[in-house]
Amino acid sequence: MIKVKRLRHATFTTADIKAQLDYYQSIIGLGVIARGDGRILLGTESDELTLVLERGAASQLTSIAYEVAPGLEPAELQKSLASHGIASEIRSDTAPGIAKSLLFDDTDGHRIELFSRWGFCKAVEPIRGLAVAKLGHVALHSPDPERTAKFFGDVLGFRVSDRIEQNFVFMRCGPEHHAMNFARGTDGRLHHIAFELRDASHMHQACDLLGRNRVQILWGPVRHGPGHNVAVYHYDPDRHLIELYYSMDVMLDEELGYFEPRPWHRDRPQRPKTWVGLPRDVWGVGPAKEASEFSPAMRGVK
Ligand SMILES: [Fe+2]
Repeated sequence: MIKVKRLRHATFTTADIKAQLDYYQSIIGLGVIARGDGRILLGTESDELTLVLERGAASQLTSIAYEVAPGLEPAELQKSLASHGIASEIRSDTAPGIAKSLLFDDTDGHRIELFSRWGFCKAVEPIRGLAVAKLGHVALHSPDPERTAKFFGDVLGFRVSDRIEQNFVFMRCGPEHHAMNFARGTDGRLHHIAFELRDASHMHQACDLLGRNRVQILWGPVRHGPGHNVAVYHYDPDRHLIELYYSMDVMLDEELGYFEPRPWHRDRPQRPKTWVGLPRDVWGVGPAKEASEFSPAMRGVK
């Protein structure tokens, strides 16, 4: 079976590439690795490709890229996908440092890219803004979150970390509580993407920077229940919901099956479970009205 090890980068099309670029440089703190014809590649201070912006008519998430277990060649990945009845295509040089990758569509029509070998890419312009640590997770809507979760589990090796009633499934591919989550919705559009911050002082800096740039904080700061990450949410210029977070639960040993104990856990040990009822957050400010419009599922998620 394919074992995804890490979320690597996300690709968005945008009708206003200038506004998106300015936001991801000056607020999120990614640096330009390369600029092509209507395509800009951005990376972190650690020289990891993180975000691809492509000029397009609609502003939407188009592709998610993952690193798989080392040594897995695209032809082997293709064979594994074929055993699930999934057609895929091997491509060369989709981005700097990625010589070969495998592309296919998931059950909800998202383009997925897999590769086992990648190279660090240094930004050619100075990093400004928050200089986030990494792209931490992608949350997608799904008409059937359990079906999507089963696909990511069976085909890509993700494990369920938590559920919120029938509405949300959190999945991990490494020690962190979630790299993907699936929220009940009418279609497969993006729910939110999340960038990791270093610590509480970095979060403080983030809130100050958002405030100085008159970007409204829509939810938080809050310590969530599922994952126990401390988070704030806001919109990027294309009105994609962006989460900034730190201090997420980690499962250091899959065999032990519980998350590393923390003082704020109510369950001892904290194992994967289905969260029911409110409040789910440990502390913090609930979502603003402006944040609930993008998703009926959000209104029930605390
Ligand atoms: Fe999140």
